[in-house]
Amino acid sequence: MEFVSTRGMLLLFAGETGNAEEVAYDIQEKLQAPCRTTSTSEYDIANLPSEHFVVFVVSSTGDGEPPEPMKAFWSFLLRKGLAADALSDMAFAIFGLGDSSYDKYNAVARKLEKRLCMLGAKGAITTGYGDDQAPFGYLSAYFPWLEDLKSYVLRNGIVKQPTGGSSAIQTYSANIAMNGPSPGQQQLTGDQSFIPVRVVENRRLTADVWPQDVRHIRMDVDPTFTPQGCALYTVGDVAVVPYENPVVLVELAGALIIEGCRIHTALELSLDTLLEVTRNTPVGTLPRPSRLPSLSGCTLRKLLTRHLDIGAVPKRSYFEKLAQYASDPEEADKLRELASAQGSDLYFDYCVRERKNYVEVLQEFRSCRPPLSVLLEVLPVIGPRKYSIASSPALHPRTVR
Ligand SMILES: Cc1cc2nc3c(=O)[nH]c(=O)nc-3n(C[C@H](O)[C@H](O)[C@H](O)COP(=O)(O)O)c2cc1C
Repeated sequence: MEFVSTRGMLLLFAGETGNAEEVAYDIQEKLQAPCRTTSTSEYDIANLPSEHFVVFVVSSTGDGEPPEPMKAFWSFLLRKGLAADALSDMAFAIFGLGDSSYDKYNAVARKLEKRLCMLGAKGAITTGYGDDQAPFGYLSAYFPWLEDLKSYVLRNGIVKQPTGGSSAIQTYSANIAMNGPSPGQQQLTGDQSFIPVRVVENRRLTADVWPQDVRHIRMDVDPTFTPQGCALYTVGDVAVVPYENPVVLVELAGALIIEGCRIHTALELSLDTLLEVTRNTPVGTLPRPSRLPSLSGCTLRKLLTRHLDIGAVPKRSYFEKLAQYASDPEEADKLRELASAQGSDLYFDYCVRERKNYVEVLQEFRSCRPPLSVLLEVLPVIGPRKYSIASSPALHPRTVR
């Protein structure tokens, strides 16, 4: 099925751990409509009154609080000075993500719906409440809600069908680079202003027999570093540390990708091949924030070490994509099952409980070797890791523990 957008719809997501983003892009893909999908933190809320149809995917966190990327957006919506008809031209749909074991179950979706109505916006369909405790997790509520959404957008001419129009999905091409590296395009994690530190202590706190490896780490700030105007950190801050994947994982991923490229493309890769990666964002859509931007002159090794989060637990969409490339029908069936609502328990046992990563999954499905360009559609980019700071800046102004 394919639709084309006439008035354009906006899809805003807000979450902490990636579920809201995953759902938002699934909606974009299933509707096959070029819509602007973006995080609430990236959207200029001053434009909201001129939107006609907005779909929100929002999770609840803390004690029923909005997730971090939604805080500024939410404070703006709560402003007292907003007129009662500020959003009267707008219709909306909401899918909330939550967990009914919390007292304030799906509180953010509920509060958002109430506030939008107070500002004159009209609810298009019944709000969906995804629940981690439901038999198939949030998918139990998501699939019927998505059907409602599809009917609404078709009925109201927000998207039309069918057309031969272009797909709404971001794609990639990966080629061998003809030129050397271009410095500006390679810095993904290196472009923020990090504070240079030296790790002077890294001690395990838990007993060796205990499965959890909890560590006390002490980092001394480089003596030549002078913070500008303020203290290095304050109470409640977290230490944000750039992360690189371990060499063994990079080499394993490299071997599997090289195999895939041999099957599907004329590319003869090695880990040290310089690549030219181009991201193709369809007209009317926005680049997906957790996916790789275009990169020029980056080796496959560096791509896997510094840019792609190959050590993370895969999202369901990964299995959906892999299934298209499994030449063994049994493997394809298993992959499809892992991606489906009914495969929720299997997904949890196979992936989440065992903490399987993207590379291990690819290795286990031996008949499945997609080309690199396809993996780039589904592999998230690496983010820095965040650690709780246990020390006080009053006592240790230049060390972080
Ligand atoms: C620290 C934490 C706090 C949470 N608090 C709530 C809550 O108050 N109410 C609720 O319904 N769900 C709560 N949840 C469940 C999440 O909303 C749910 O797992 C959701 O799928 C996460 O989506 P995200 O990955 O987009 O952040 C909480 C989850 C975590 C990890």
